[in-house]
Amino acid sequence: MIDKLLAPPPELDYGIRVDKYHQIGEEYSRHCRELAGLAPDGRVLDVGCGFAPLAAGLTSYLSPEGSYVGIDAVPNGVEWASRTISPHYPNFRFAWIDAYNQTYRPNGRLDPRSYRFPFEDDEFDLVYMRSVFTHMLPDDVENYLSEVRRVMKPGGRSLITYFLLNSESTRLMGGEGSFINFPHDYGVYSKHYPGPEGSIAYREGHVRELYRQVGLTIVGPIHFGYWCGRESGRSSQDIIIATKQEKG
Ligand SMILES: C[S@@+](CC[C@H](N)C(=O)[O-])C[C@H]1O[C@@H](n2cnc3c(N)ncnc32)[C@H](O)[C@@H]1O
Repeated sequence: MIDKLLAPPPELDYGIRVDKYHQIGEEYSRHCRELAGLAPDGRVLDVGCGFAPLAAGLTSYLSPEGSYVGIDAVPNGVEWASRTISPHYPNFRFAWIDAYNQTYRPNGRLDPRSYRFPFEDDEFDLVYMRSVFTHMLPDDVENYLSEVRRVMKPGGRSLITYFLLNSESTRLMGGEGSFINFPHDYGVYSKHYPGPEGSIAYREGHVRELYRQVGLTIVGPIHFGYWCGRESGRSSQDIIIATKQEKG
């Protein structure tokens, strides 16, 4: 259970649904354990952590030998989490990175097409991104995915969520039970509405090819979500687990 005191104040929210904080924290902490095999002494990187619901969800799971780092382009969440979570859990750290995103950080100085994560190679057992590539354009996603791979330990895992377009989601999308659709087609991706990176869905084939190109191997089936109106799903968004091959 997440400590009730770990709740971001609504006035700091910048449209990322802090009202669902505990629900997301509990749910994704479970996915990290069950789908990505996160151990209590694992080292976790959360890219685009927002107010870090995953960190809250992992406070009761990670041991002092484990650790969590969250980074985000908007200072609100990481500042709040540094003040609220880190004093009680010193192995949980948060940092602001001034990366550009037209929706979230239009004045950001760092170009996401070439930004290098501030970590060494092979540092993390798990790199996690929930609902972040759903707001990033193809060149940015390509660079971030190759950075995800670089900082993963060989044999480590990534857990990343998407809205994936395939024949099933395209057929269901927009119908009864679907809560978002992507009518604006830009080739490998489609947008919910034209303009900035509001919500973006990628073609499944494009994403699979990108993983192959950067050297990440998708583990097991993709865990398709119920965003498009599927009757069942692990989560609302689609979840891809991948690994970086051991050396040699
Ligand atoms: C929908 S929110 C999800 C936040 C969090 N992952 C969660 O599950 O609650 C998307 C987050 O991605 C962050 N973001 C967008 N582009 C980014 C970038 N290029 N680098 C780092 N963070 C980024 C935004 O600032 C925002 O906090």
